[in-house]
Formats: sequence, structure tokens, C-alpha cells
Amino acid sequence: LTILSPAPSFQIIGHRGVAGLAPENTLAGFKLAKQRGLNWVEFDTQPCLTGEWVVFHDETLERTTNGFGSLAKTPYANLQHLDAGSWFNFQYHQERIPLLSEVLDTLIRLNLQPNIEIKGLSNPQHAQPLINFLQILNHHWPKSSPPPLISSFDLPTLLALKKLDPRLCLGYLVEGYQPDTLEIMRSNEFFSLHCDATHICSSGTKVSSDALLDIVRAGFPLLLYTVNDPLLAQMFFEQGVTAVFSDLTNLIAESFPHY
Ligand code: G3P
Ligand code: MG
Repeated sequence: LTILSPAPSFQIIGHRGVAGLAPENTLAGFKLAKQRGLNWVEFDTQPCLTGEWVVFHDETLERTTNGFGSLAKTPYANLQHLDAGSWFNFQYHQERIPLLSEVLDTLIRLNLQPNIEIKGLSNPQHAQPLINFLQILNHHWPKSSPPPLISSFDLPTLLALKKLDPRLCLGYLVEGYQPDTLEIMRSNEFFSLHCDATHICSSGTKVSSDALLDIVRAGFPLLLYTVNDPLLAQMFFEQGVTAVFSDLTNLIAESFPHY
């Protein structure tokens, strides 16, 4: 069985689009990421009450929109007109919560490679939302393009996806590195490990050598979130880290003109 690999050379991944420079998870943010020269963006997605997959980080609407309440309990008809940009800056007041399908279409047009993070499903045992998710991918991400990297903190979600399509390129998202992390990666043929930089580092800057030996030398890409300091990013790359997620890609880009 061959796991499809995404496009190589991902060193800097715009976090939630480019969350330090434009409202997170919006079309404006993805366009800006492209203008800033990025090749990769991460974004979060989850289904709303009526089943549409939208690109949105939180469980609730208050922080990043003018709506309120739980996203999972709100029908799409009540989400689609919300202002998802003013909270960041009034110049973005026309930004909406995008559908996953719209984001994929936009990224194809921009030639940006996606890391799609699936946020916690209320009932991961129930396969229908993930079947819908894969249908959206099939319709909006051409087979001729390198496949998206799909990640989640929720192991049952990753396992259910693997069962639905064993060739998917899956990233295992964790906060810290645990003794069984490598075994989970191997036995499920995950593609990459995505760790919280603050939890995997001893002394704040050095990736714990256990994790590095296990993960990088076992051949798995190691991706760290969220890194906004270029010196720190440089240190991570020197230690064998494959990529960092960053909100402030302008700072990082100035230090790594080759990315
Ligand atoms: O996918 C990496 C990172 O985005 C995970 O944390 O909360 O920003 O989605 P969060
Ligand atoms: Mg995320």
C-alpha cells in the first residue's frame, strides 16, 4: 500500500492561514499567505449543525465572529452571513466563515498546499460526517494535485479516516510526546507527527532528544506549532524538525529567504 505523499519541501506553514496578519481561517488570510510567498497553509475545519463543513477553529462563535453560541449547534443558514473579520480589523468586515469547499477551490487557484486540521467531532464513531468530508475533498481537490495533509488531535477520527481511505496522508496531532507515540505512528502508518513546540522542548529551545531520535530517525516528518520567532525556527530546523506552523510568517520569511 502506498500512502500518497504531499508536495515536498514544507518548512514554513501559515497557521490558520496567516493568523498574525489577517483574520484566521478566512479567504483573505489564505490570499495574504500566498502574497507573502508561502507554499503551505494550515486551517481548521468542522461540521456545523446542518452538516456543512466550515473552516473555523473554536467550538463557539464569539471570539472570531459577531455571532454567539456553539458552532456545532448552529445551522449553516445562520453562519453564512456572520462577520468573521471585524474582530481582527474592520478592513476585513466582509470576511465570512468559509465552507471547506470554498477554501479548497481558493487554494487550488492560489497553488497553496493545505494541511487540513479536523477539529473534534461530537461523535467520531458516526461515519457520515467523515464520508461527507471525503466527498468534498474528492470534488474540490483534483487528483492531479499533491494530496492534502489531513491532521487531527482526535485519534478515533484519524483511524476512521484511515479505514475509509487507507491511502490518505494523515498527520497525528499531539500536545506532548508520549512513550507510545511512535508505536501509534507506525502501526497506523501515519505520515507525520505534529507537536506543540512548547511541550516537546526541554529548555524551551531544544527538542527533547527522545522524541527526535524516535520520530525523525524513524523517518517521520516532525512539524511543530506555533513558532513565531525566526531564531527558534532556525534552531528547530538545525535539530531535524521538518516544518513549523507560524502566525507571523513575515518575520520568519525575512530570516529564511529560501523557503
Ligand atoms: O495544526 C496545528 C495547530 O493548529 C494545532 O492547534 O489549536 O491552533 O488548531 P490549534
Ligand atoms: Mg489548527
